[in-house]
Amino acid sequence: MSLTSHRRHSHGQSLAARLGQSRVAARIEDEVRVTAADLVDSVAEARLKVATVRYKVQDEVRSKTEKLRSRVSEARTKLGDEARFIKSWIDDPMRTGSVTPSSPALARRMASFVDPSLPGPVIEIGPGTGPVTEALIERGISEDRLILVEYSPEFCKLLRARFPRATVVEGDAYALSTTLAGHLQEKAIAVVSSLPLFNQPPAMRSALAKDAFTLLVEGAPFVQFTYSVVSPVPRKGSGLKSFASDWVLRNIPPARVWVYRQPV
Ligand SMILES: C[S@@+](CC[C@H](N)C(=O)[O-])C[C@H]1O[C@@H](n2cnc3c(N)ncnc32)[C@H](O)[C@@H]1O
Repeated sequence: MSLTSHRRHSHGQSLAARLGQSRVAARIEDEVRVTAADLVDSVAEARLKVATVRYKVQDEVRSKTEKLRSRVSEARTKLGDEARFIKSWIDDPMRTGSVTPSSPALARRMASFVDPSLPGPVIEIGPGTGPVTEALIERGISEDRLILVEYSPEFCKLLRARFPRATVVEGDAYALSTTLAGHLQEKAIAVVSSLPLFNQPPAMRSALAKDAFTLLVEGAPFVQFTYSVVSPVPRKGSGLKSFASDWVLRNIPPARVWVYRQPV
């Protein structure tokens, strides 16, 4: 083959070859482009998944930490209240009447006898560290409707910090109407008492109930808990209607709630 014909031949072949090669190259380039785009998508998707998992984990950790923190603070408060109670009982066992605060179960049972839909204040006597107060609020009695009468100055300080919108009156519940003079703008819809009544003679308990009813609207209850099997307010000759709940076993010691009303 002459040099000229070889050139023509190779030139023609290389054009076809180049054409074929460029198509293949274009296809490969396309495929590479698609694969690269897929890869970018997959990486973005993976990143999104990682971020979602991270947020979920962070959220769970945060909410578990918050729950733990609130449990620790609840336990601290409970321990603090138990300690305050024991101290108060050591200082004055007759007045404190118990070595531990009422359980939430007993407090809820007491509050259950108060109708939150009725307007007017609720008087609590002997609130101590406030478990019954809390149950009353939980029942739907707003804090500003509560008049708390407590003898112990330490408990009053604690109650003022815990229930800033309630009226805390430091004084003697056995002289209720005198103690509450100027604090009660209208008659109350209930008196809820945790006083250790059995530490006082029957005549004093009767006098307390009689005085309390002068501060209550017609048909309103005087609610009292007791560890005893007999009525803490002497019923004979009182003319009061009374009702005793079943025993609340989730309290140390088990207790029951008495509800007294004046006949209408
Ligand atoms: C058995 S504790 C009950 C405390 C709280 N309500 C509870 O259920 O855990 C009795 C409370 O009545 C208070 N108290 C006793 N005699 C009182 C009186 N004459 N006037 C007002 N509060 C009195 C005590 O200081 C104490 O806080």
